[in-house]
Amino acid sequence: MATRYRRLETKLVHAGEPRPRIEGAVAMPIFQSATFESSDVASYHDIRYARLNNTPNHLALHRKLAALENAEAALVTASGMAAITTTLLTLLRAGDHLLAQGCLYGGTHDFLTRDFPSFGIEHDFIDWRSPEAWREKLRSTTRAIYVEAIANPLMEVIDLEAVVAFARAHGLVSIIDNTFASPVNFRPPEWGFDLSLHSATKYLNGHSDLVAGAVIGRADLVEKVTHKLNHLGGSLDPHAAFLLQRGCKTLALRVRFQNASALEIARFLEGRPEVSRVNYPGLESHPAHARVRKLFDGAGGMLSFELRGGVQAAEEFLRGLRLGTVAPSLGGTETLVTRPAATSHLGMTPEDRARLGISDALVRVSVGIEATEEIIEDFERALVAAGPSAADLASAR
Ligand SMILES: Cc1ncc(COP(=O)(O)O)c(C=O)c1O
Repeated sequence: MATRYRRLETKLVHAGEPRPRIEGAVAMPIFQSATFESSDVASYHDIRYARLNNTPNHLALHRKLAALENAEAALVTASGMAAITTTLLTLLRAGDHLLAQGCLYGGTHDFLTRDFPSFGIEHDFIDWRSPEAWREKLRSTTRAIYVEAIANPLMEVIDLEAVVAFARAHGLVSIIDNTFASPVNFRPPEWGFDLSLHSATKYLNGHSDLVAGAVIGRADLVEKVTHKLNHLGGSLDPHAAFLLQRGCKTLALRVRFQNASALEIARFLEGRPEVSRVNYPGLESHPAHARVRKLFDGAGGMLSFELRGGVQAAEEFLRGLRLGTVAPSLGGTETLVTRPAATSHLGMTPEDRARLGISDALVRVSVGIEATEEIIEDFERALVAAGPSAADLASAR
């Protein structure tokens, strides 16, 4: 989609906004109308009706989201899961097969493992560490490959260039969930991905006050997903579209601050005696550090760490927080903290968690936009309260 704005910061504010402005309104007005006068419609999908994702609020957002990732087209959906499920059901039918990264967001993982069978769609998980083994999982019915830009909760980054090359070599559609990176840090269409999906609930909106999703990428595929969404009905309400458009305007300011803050917090945690391991791709110690430096403009606001004192210490840490809020979800203005083994990965068996390296003492942090030093002070206080103390650890050695 052509745009006359060059830089991301300018696109976030101006791309897709109606010109001339509607009645001179600087902010996009909300078109709270389910239906619109329609004449000369060529097909069902051209009728102007809110479920068909074509009110002025939808169209402005589509233009803005496409511009952010330098893509041909975009579509907003009622949730991240609506974006994911509608995309997969558009591209796959009974008898088809999908290759997917092993460690996926829980909702996506459950959709593949529990819902795919009822549609007659098959899948195989691929090991993110060994691209040379992906070929063994390929079938004549494989249609697409599905990965995540930064995988929860260890913040692993699969070889994204190898994914695109593999998809091209075998005629597969390449799909990536770009939620954790956000378009500020990574723009998948620039690296050859066909479709980039988002839980816009997270960084794109950024204020933990709505649920939305997005599908961004090739125009021919986005059109097909739109037609499927028109039937499945997971369309975004115009008021939520307005809020999402407003949230997007500050995306670069928020994410760049969160990148810097997460790095400082990760470095602080690495130096603490109570912490045995820190997972943050911005740290030199992270296995994907070099890849992230090459492909990404920032390592993001998500990190996780493991406490030496085990589950009890992790729970004590969560109880000891005064600024950080213990809550699922991510990408908002408030720092949110969870223990994945008790929340997002509770559905997995302890053996599966252990196989993936997800310890029960792992704590995940979505860094907000509070002052970094105050988050660090809060974490330090909670770590000391959770123990074991530096003296205990020294005497145990
Ligand atoms: C990486 C990722 N993808 C997709 C989703 C689903 O998004 P939503 O909750 O907006 O449906 C989430 C939700 O946490 C997520 O973390």
